[in-house]
Parts: sequence; C-alpha cells; structure tokens
Amino acid sequence: MNVRDEITIEAHAKVNLTLEILGIRPDGYHDLRSIVMPVSLSDTITLTRTPAVFSLTLTTDRGISAVQIGPVEKNLAMRAARLMKDRYGVRAGVRIHIRKRIPVGGGMGGGSSDAAGVIRGLNELWGLRRPDEELAALGAELGSDIPALVLGGTVLMEGRGERVHRLALDGPVRGFDLVIANPGIHCSTAEIFSRWKSGLTTPPKMVQNMAFSIRASDVKRAASLLHNDLEAAAFEGYPAIARLSETLRRVGCLGVLLSGSGASVFGLVRDRAQGEEICRRLEADGIWNVLAHTCPMV
Ligand code: C5P
Repeated sequence: MNVRDEITIEAHAKVNLTLEILGIRPDGYHDLRSIVMPVSLSDTITLTRTPAVFSLTLTTDRGISAVQIGPVEKNLAMRAARLMKDRYGVRAGVRIHIRKRIPVGGGMGGGSSDAAGVIRGLNELWGLRRPDEELAALGAELGSDIPALVLGGTVLMEGRGERVHRLALDGPVRGFDLVIANPGIHCSTAEIFSRWKSGLTTPPKMVQNMAFSIRASDVKRAASLLHNDLEAAAFEGYPAIARLSETLRRVGCLGVLLSGSGASVFGLVRDRAQGEEICRRLEADGIWNVLAHTCPMV
C-alpha cells in the first residue's frame, strides 16, 4: 500500500455555467441540473499525517475574510477528515493547513472545494484507494456541491447535487478565460434558494448546447448560453450583486453570470489580455477581482 506522510492539493473553485432548478423535493432541497467547471483559482491544502491528532490551520490571501470562515470543528474540511476516518476505520490523524484564496460564501465552492480536496487527499495520504464515485457519495453527506468537486473536471450535476457524471469532452479542451468579482458580501445558500420562485422557463437543450460550446472552446457561444435560475433571487435580495453584474457587462465581458448562489459574479472574456484590462478597471474601483481560466479536465 502506498502510504505517504504529507501531500499538497490544489482545491479548485468552481463556476456553474448553467444552473436550472427543476422543482422542490419533499425533503426541502431543490432538484437541479447544472454544468459545473473547475477554475484556476484554488485553495492550497497541505495534509500531514499524525499519529492520532486532528488539527486545522488557515491562512488567508488578500480580501478573504477569516472571520467568515467560522469555528474549526464546523469547518467542512475538518468534518470531511473526521467522516473519512470514521467511515474507513483509520487510526491515524491529520494536520490540515489551508491557504485560502477562494472568497468565503462566494458561490464558488470555497468550503466545499476544501472538503472535496481533503476527501481526495486523505484517500491518497491514508492509502485507502477508494473509487471516485464512492468518495463523491461520501461528500454528498456533507454538502450538495461536494460530489461534483470530488469527481473533478467538467461535471453534469443533478438531483440535490448527489448525481454527478463527467461530461465527455472528447480530448483536451482549451477552456475559457473569465473575470471573477465579489461585491464584498456573503450570501447564505439556504436564503438564496428560499427566495427562488418558480415560473421562468429555461431555453431548451441548455446542457447539450453548453456542452457543445465547451468542447468547441467557443467562448462567444458559451457567453450567450450562461444561465442561472438563482440569479433573480440573488439580485432581489442583494442589489449590490445586480450592480456588480451590470458593471462587468459595462466593462465589456462577453457574458456575465451569478456564480452558484452568489455572492460572486463572473464574466467570460475574449482572451487574457481583455481580462487583464477589465481587472485593472475593477481594481481602480476597489472591487475584489481575479482573472482565472476554466480547467475543463482537472
Ligand atoms: O447541501 P448544502 O448544505 O450545501 O446546502 C445548503 C442549503 O442550500 C440547504 O440547506 C438548502 O437550503 C439549500 N439547497 C437546496 N437545494 C440544493 C442544494 C442546496 O435547497 N440542491
């Protein structure tokens, strides 16, 4: 068995290029259909094997508020580690260090990406060799976004988030450049879902059309297809998000969308040069931003 003492993982943030809500389930969760793609923005997680002790430390990058992260025992990364230990009867412990760059409560994975990274990392560190599908199902016990992030790559997510499969991309795909911006507020996922009202119809064949644009790396087409059923709810509850979205459009993004349940917004751009120019303008207005690219295969 391959057992190591320390490993480092990049836990990628995600964007939902499409997010449709199909209805409310008897358990109160919403039935979704969403294309999830990892982006280059990531938290860096270091996992160090210990005889039994569990610990978590965090450092935060510019603009990431440590206050919003909450107590260690409630942290999803810590809970993921404990779940792995209990489920697989592991005797060892782990020291977790996370360098955070993904905005907290930003609709980009954040805590879920860290939990997914810990699940994948401990599978390796502890030499467990559990298959991806099993690890994704384990992640679903902690949060709806985690299975897609455990699986990685470009994923079609359905159900509450527990049904996931990788989209076949038929070979390497270039991906898209995007500008991510955050209005400096924190959105509660539960609140945004509870504000959602049914009624709006979604264009037909959304998933097929978006999948086609991803395979063709056709950023203009992808930009025209961006869709998030939670956007109206987020804009209504938090006008600052609507204003930020308008700003991204005004500075020239090809298409702009709320990321997950917010509060971050992202805009697809023609290329890196345009993205850099847009980031400079946002920076001048004091808006938190990062230029990233989608990582279709990671
Ligand atoms: O699964 P997770 O704990 O991340 O979800 C947070 C909240 O978001 C849930 O308590 C629920 O209110 C809402 N949610 C939902 N439908 C989903 C995912 C999340 O209603 N598919």
